[in-house]
Amino acid sequence: MDQNQIEVAAQIIKSGGLVAFPTETVYGLGANALNPFAVAKIFELKERPTFDPLIVHIADFDDLYILADNPSESVIALAKKFWPGPLTIVLPKSKLVPDIVTSGLQTVGIRMPNNEIALQLIEKSGCPIAAPSANKFGKLSPVNAKHVKKQLPNVDYILDGGDTAVGIESTIISVEGNVCKMLRPGIINAEDIEKALPDGFIFSNEKTEKMVAPGLLKSHYSPAKPLYIFNGDEIQIPKSSGVILHGENVFIENAQKTVYTSKNYNHHEIAANLFSALHAMEEDESVKQIFIEAVNCVGLGIAIMDRINKAAYQYQSKQ
Ligand code: TXA
Ligand code: MG
Repeated sequence: MDQNQIEVAAQIIKSGGLVAFPTETVYGLGANALNPFAVAKIFELKERPTFDPLIVHIADFDDLYILADNPSESVIALAKKFWPGPLTIVLPKSKLVPDIVTSGLQTVGIRMPNNEIALQLIEKSGCPIAAPSANKFGKLSPVNAKHVKKQLPNVDYILDGGDTAVGIESTIISVEGNVCKMLRPGIINAEDIEKALPDGFIFSNEKTEKMVAPGLLKSHYSPAKPLYIFNGDEIQIPKSSGVILHGENVFIENAQKTVYTSKNYNHHEIAANLFSALHAMEEDESVKQIFIEAVNCVGLGIAIMDRINKAAYQYQSKQ
């Protein structure tokens, strides 16, 4: 990428504007995390309820000391094992983090993305960058610049870094005292976290019914047309259906459009191509409803099914 573009984007962040930028997971919609007026514009453009807190992106480990309230050496060591990378750590926040970033919570989600453009943007802006995914609230996550433009045509600037590598949002954990909880599954899974936890830490992977974060709502990431999940190889589909498959075990006749996320059920490929496949179905006017194959709920399959279930949630009972 041309350095000038990152310079221009950094100037926009510095002057309180919004920049969409690539990370290794999905595109983010960024603003200076320490400027509440700039952060407010994120909620406005995304039409995001202000009770849904934002993740703060950093490029330097020292920023952990600025944003978190007295982080322990063990927390820093844990962060160093995964950063830069697709893990968000929710920690007690420092006074410097504006309330609007955390929706009034006393904790803040922090991550160091593993993407050169994102890291340079943060460095050149000279501030941590608050960024949710660069989509309208509840809609499909963007994994390229075209997806961002489709949903947020009025964003001040888009840094186009091509397709993202991981394709689904970061894993989110919270750490309070010596208790670590899984809040959102991602490519870094529960076993990876458990293995990396310092001695004396307790790990909880229990599902809590309490809404800890709106990203944990049952309905999210939805395409603009009905989406149904199917298991196995025998399904009847209505006319004008789009079908998303993850391998060649299944063949469905009469599909209006078929998109493969992978040829052989490779979970990394499925994650990388999942949102693009859903965007392609959303954009094709001849597709009236979408059918998506389920994947095995093991390893990365847990995070993939989390996104698929949330995307299809509002249509499940109507099938
Ligand atoms: O991969 C990602 O995490 C992407 C890229 C851009 O970094 N970002 C992303 O942000 O997915 P967003 O806003 O779409 O999802 C972040 C989730 C939300 O569900 C939010 O509620 C939760 O993180 N979250 C943020 N701060 C939190 C906090 N202090 N406590 C609990 N949940 C928090
Ligand atoms: Mg999101």
